[in-house]
Amino acid sequence: MIPYGRQSIAEADIAAVVAVLRGDFLTQGPMIEAFERAFAARVGAKYAVAVNSATAALHLALRVAGVGRGDRVVTSPITFLASANCAAYVGATPDFSDIDPVSYTLDPVALEANWRPDTRAVVAVDYAGQACAMPEIARIARARGAVVIEDACHAVGGAFHAGESGPSFKIGGHPWADLTVFSFHPVKTMTTGEGGMLVTDRADWADFARTLRSHGIVRDPAEFETPSDDEILGEKGPWFYEMQELGWNYRLTDLQCALGLSQLGRLDGFLARRREIVAAYNTAFAHLDWLVTPGLRDVRDRGTTSWHLYSAQIDFDRLGRTRPQVMAELRAAGIGTQVLYIPVHLQPWYRRSFGYAPGKCPVAEAFYTRTLSLPLFPTMSNEDVARVIAHVEALDLVAIS
Ligand SMILES: Cc1ncc(COP(=O)(O)O)c(C=O)c1O
Repeated sequence: MIPYGRQSIAEADIAAVVAVLRGDFLTQGPMIEAFERAFAARVGAKYAVAVNSATAALHLALRVAGVGRGDRVVTSPITFLASANCAAYVGATPDFSDIDPVSYTLDPVALEANWRPDTRAVVAVDYAGQACAMPEIARIARARGAVVIEDACHAVGGAFHAGESGPSFKIGGHPWADLTVFSFHPVKTMTTGEGGMLVTDRADWADFARTLRSHGIVRDPAEFETPSDDEILGEKGPWFYEMQELGWNYRLTDLQCALGLSQLGRLDGFLARRREIVAAYNTAFAHLDWLVTPGLRDVRDRGTTSWHLYSAQIDFDRLGRTRPQVMAELRAAGIGTQVLYIPVHLQPWYRRSFGYAPGKCPVAEAFYTRTLSLPLFPTMSNEDVARVIAHVEALDLVAIS
């Protein structure tokens, strides 16, 4: 079975993890800072904070930016639940704005048209690895005092161009996001098993995120709040720490950071192979009038999209079959596919809690009815790619016969 996505683990990755297992620290050791530094350098950000999931990173992003009760957070409906749930974690109202029908990322025109006075943050999701229209989104949000968080979970290692002939910017290192979040779940472009990274150029936010990822604990005596004449806690020895905020255990282990560091060294190879596969699919599918290949008309895609997903738009009516039937046919041929994503505003909890209903984001809802993600991962062989292409093309023939 060719799955829709999977990790690539090499002997070097295994050796890196084993070396940590033989050492002194399984967690809270030196690999964390090593991974953070290497990651920040790679994406061109000043600070990177490693956490145990991107969900945790999104939560911390809103928390350090001071978003909370009474605030609204707008994201795309075509995303994983976590991009919106983070707003609810901090007591804010998650809201959704429609996507543009080409890049499948937030449509700046819709974002501006539906802006509400209580919107304090935008979580812009780089769906499938395609960069959002970040300069436009930042212009809209910042003019209204809102913080810009880029959910780049799909875009590890990606870059984008500001306009057709503009300069190239790395995701995580450009000036239009205040905080950027990456995921290292196994189907993403590199993995730590579970894991995430929060990057920012603001030292105060990075420091605060580090405190919050470990229970809100402060260990630096220079920062202690308890006075030395405190009746009970006045004596402060080497054991002493203070909990100054309500935090969480969002720490990533040294084992995972060693894997992350090793995978980071292989990232360029992963991305190059993903692009090769996308190019092969796009060429093969160009003549199919019932399938729209992703990203072709996106001027921002100039070969630097990290391509986490290959999401085709399929006209199932023209094929004469439902999406479950097509998925079953491909599965019978040993090809796994996936539907990414169910529009988040239509999940029962969102309907029940906020009254969201069909029609709120019509472009996203139409996208959902036609989307199908085909296998895309770096260890796919050329034979695997050819097999997917042959069976997708044959869907048409089956319909005609
Ligand atoms: C767009 C997006 N945001 C956030 C997340 C959450 O990532 P994690 O699984 O690392 O918590 C995911 C993971 O699927 C995602 O795809």
